[in-house]
Parts: sequence; structure tokens; C-alpha cells
Amino acid sequence: MRSANVFTLLLTFAFLSAVHHTSAFWLFNVIFPPNATRPGVQSNDTPPIIIVPGNLGNRLEAKIDKPTLVHWMCYKKTEDWFSLWIDLNMFMPIGIDCWIDNIKLVYNKTTRQSSNSPGVEVRVPGFGQTYAIEFLDSNRLAGYFHTMVQHLVNMGYTRDGTVRGAPYDWRLAPNQNEKYLSKLKELVEEMYDLYQQPIHLLGHSMGSHYVLYFLNQQTQAWKDKHIKGFISLGAPWGGAIKTLRVIASGENDGIPMISNIKIREEQRMAVTNPWMLPNVDVWPKDHVLISTPNATYTNQDYEQFFSDMDFEDGWLMWEDTKNLTSGMQPPGVEVWCMYGVGIPTPVSYVYDGGYPDTDPVDYVYADGDDTVDSLSMSQCKRWIGQQEAPVHVTEFRGMPHLDMVFHHKVLGLMQQILEGQSDTPEEVDCRDDMIFKTIPKP
Ligand SMILES: *[C@@H]1O[C@H](CO)[C@@H](O)[C@H](O)[C@H]1NC(C)=O
Ligand SMILES: *[C@@H]1O[C@H](CO)[C@@H](O)[C@H](O)[C@H]1NC(C)=O
Ligand SMILES: *[C@@H]1O[C@H](CO)[C@@H](O)[C@H](O)[C@H]1NC(C)=O
Ligand SMILES: *[C@@H]1O[C@H](CO)[C@@H](O)[C@H](O)[C@H]1NC(C)=O
Repeated sequence: MRSANVFTLLLTFAFLSAVHHTSAFWLFNVIFPPNATRPGVQSNDTPPIIIVPGNLGNRLEAKIDKPTLVHWMCYKKTEDWFSLWIDLNMFMPIGIDCWIDNIKLVYNKTTRQSSNSPGVEVRVPGFGQTYAIEFLDSNRLAGYFHTMVQHLVNMGYTRDGTVRGAPYDWRLAPNQNEKYLSKLKELVEEMYDLYQQPIHLLGHSMGSHYVLYFLNQQTQAWKDKHIKGFISLGAPWGGAIKTLRVIASGENDGIPMISNIKIREEQRMAVTNPWMLPNVDVWPKDHVLISTPNATYTNQDYEQFFSDMDFEDGWLMWEDTKNLTSGMQPPGVEVWCMYGVGIPTPVSYVYDGGYPDTDPVDYVYADGDDTVDSLSMSQCKRWIGQQEAPVHVTEFRGMPHLDMVFHHKVLGLMQQILEGQSDTPEEVDCRDDMIFKTIPKP
């Protein structure tokens, strides 16, 4: 099919642009991850593991029967479920409008609930399996957890058996995803019964917040029985400063032919963006996150931030979600908190008079993994001494945010943990083995 070829071409282009400036937020440099799997030691008694992906990190499917269309070329009705994320159409000039109209959420400020766009049904395929997190498209071009799952299989794990994925609707925060959380609990119990041993939970990025929220909701007795440990990769525990930019002016993450302003329409509707705003107590109260010729915004100014850009719903969404995980209540299980450091990461965005409809003109950098600052990711250190189970923190120097899920040093350490060696080094140096030199944005 012609569109498939165009898609391949565009993905190649996306990949090349990602190499040039590693701008991707959560997704677009996981395309074609390095095939770094090395067969590990066969082992039959390693604990089963469930992977919870990050934002944008699993497939979504939709079925539509729409009352109105944003453009006459968009589909009005489909008989079958089709791929909504990743949808080939989003790479086409008009397709992007159709795509946004299908994937966006509608927020009701009375009920404080989000619902799908009118006439759109959305479902999450592949719960309890790995295909929907290994590759985000059915052509297996946009790889995400594939390298890690293959590494586990080489260690003796079985796909959809001892290693499973727990995909979810990542447009929503856990307060609107109760069904998912109970399915996750059932999955843990099912695997526990099947394999007669406690389960590891692994989260990447925002997926770790989901895992934390889930664990905070369970009793200590349930966790003691069912959970072996929690492996967290690159979690923005104190929030992600980049979220302010995403909400204000949009961020296409290197996706070709989609402008930042265009994608902003979808991004503003996802409740997970306000949820990921920096916590009010991590950065100093006077640290400026965004500055424009007219105003500056710190973590104390979110109401003003949303109101100045005429996006009042965003403030309500933030209020709905701000307490879900920001209290950093300890998970109550053994934790391995791993993240990248040593890469300049924007912690303040400077705009000109075009704000919020133009890109930032300047950035202030601090230490991080190119996407999230290390102050945020190191917040898991707070748990040391706050819970009975051990808390292990490992910093990977020179490791970009997305590489955490497929870099061989992370996979090697993960293998050691799964094989029962719980002590991990405080720092792992990865500066010499990064394939591409990381050039900070812009
Ligand atoms: C990775 O390499 C192995 C062995 O060379 C191969 O079997 C596998 O298909 C490769 N995976 C990808 C995604 O290319
Ligand atoms: C929001 O929900 C309320 C209560 O269900 C309903 O009456 C109202 O029409 C909804 N508002 C919108 C804009 O859909
Ligand atoms: C959220 O947390 C803050 C600070 O801990 C507290 O003052 C506030 O009451 C909480 N709000 C809700 C809705 O729980
Ligand atoms: C900044 O202030 C000027 C003059 O009051 C106003 O016209 C402009 O819209 C403001 N810009 C923003 C981004 O608030």
C-alpha cells in the first residue's frame, strides 16, 4: 500500500531528525532502537514481571460513528476497530486534523470527567500481552519495549507468560482509570497463582507514577504477599518541567510535518499533562519555569499560567490530579529507582511576544536526562528510611530518557536484579557507549 511506504519514509525521517537533536519527548527516538540484545543466562526461577509503559507508550484503537466532521476527507464511520495510536493518517496534512478530532478528549468541568470525542470509542488492545508495548504500530517500525522483552525472553522468560505488558489509556490520569487499576491487580494475582511467586512491576517514565499510585492503594499485607519489587526507569517523580512547554506552545517531538501549535490541540486535552506539571515543592518557589515579555511563571503560578492562555480547564485538571502521586507516599515494596543524569536538560523556557503561539526562543539548562531534570527524578531518594523495604537508587551518567528502556547497561542491571542480586551500584557510567552524541535542544 502506498501509504505504508510513505509512512516508512516519514519514520526514517523522524528517526534522522531525532538523531540530530534528540528532541523527542517520550516517543520518537525509540523508533528503530539499537538491536542490543545479548542472550543472557537461562534461568527458570526468575520472578515474573509486568511492564507498565510511559505516556504514549502503547497502542490505542478506535471505532467511529461521528455526528460531524472537521474536514470532509475524514472518515465519518468505521465498521471495525482501527489503529488510533500510531495512526498513519496523522502524518498526512489533513489526516492530522482527523486524527486530533478522533484522539482528543472532551473535559466536562461540572463532572470533572473526560470523555472521548463525540462518536468515538477508544479501546486499549493487548492487556496482559507484550505486543502493544513492544511496537506501537502493526508494521513493527516504532519499537519501544521490544529490545527489553527480547532480552527477558533470552533470559528464559516467556512472552505473555512470565513477562506481560499492562497498557492503558495514557490520555487519562489514574483518578479516571479505576478499571485499569483493578485489571492490573487481577493480573498480578493471576500471575501469582500461576507461577507461585511474587511479581516484579517495572515502570518507565509516567508508567512509574501509575505503579506508585497502584501500590499506594493496596494494603501492606497484599503487597508483602504479591509484589517482589518495583523497578522504576526514568520517572519524573517531581514532575516534568517540559510539560509547561507542551501545554503552552505544544511540542511535536520531532514528528515530521506536524507543527507544535497543531499538536498542542491534542496535548492540551490529555489530563496526563497537567498531572505531570512540576510539584509545588520540588523546585524553589522562585524558580522561573516560563518567562514571557509580560509575565513569569513559577510552580506557585499555575492558576495564572492557565488563565493567561485561556485554558481554564487545564487548571481544573491540575487540581483534580495534583495530589495523586505528588505526596510521594512510599510504595511499601523493595524499589530500584534508576534514571539518567549528566545531560543538559531545559528547566526554564523563555518566550518572545508570540507566546503562547510560538516556540520558546531560549532555554535555561540544568542536569538531567535531556527530558527530565535530575532534581525531579532523584525524589525517590526520599523513600530511603521511610519504608521497611530497601530503596536502591542508580544514576546512569550520560543516559538519555528513552534509552533507559533498551540500553544494554540498564538491561544488564535489570537482569541481575531479576536473578536475585538486589544490591546495585549508585552510579553507572554510560558516557562512552552512547551511540549518538547527545546535542541539547534547540
Ligand atoms: C535483533 O537481532 C536478532 C539476532 O540478530 C534478530 O533475530 C532479531 O530479529 C533482531 N530484531 C530486530 C528488531 O531487528
Ligand atoms: C457535563 O455533565 C453534566 C452532568 O452530567 C451535564 O449536565 C452537562 O451537559 C455536561 N456538560 C457538557 C458541556 O457536556
Ligand atoms: C492536596 O494536598 C495539599 C497539600 O498536601 C492539601 O493541602 C490539600 O488539601 C490536598 N487536596 C486534596 C483535594 O486532597
Ligand atoms: C502582553 O501585553 C500586551 C500589552 O498589554 C498585550 O497586548 C499582549 O497580548 C500580552 N501578551 C501576552 C502573551 O499576554
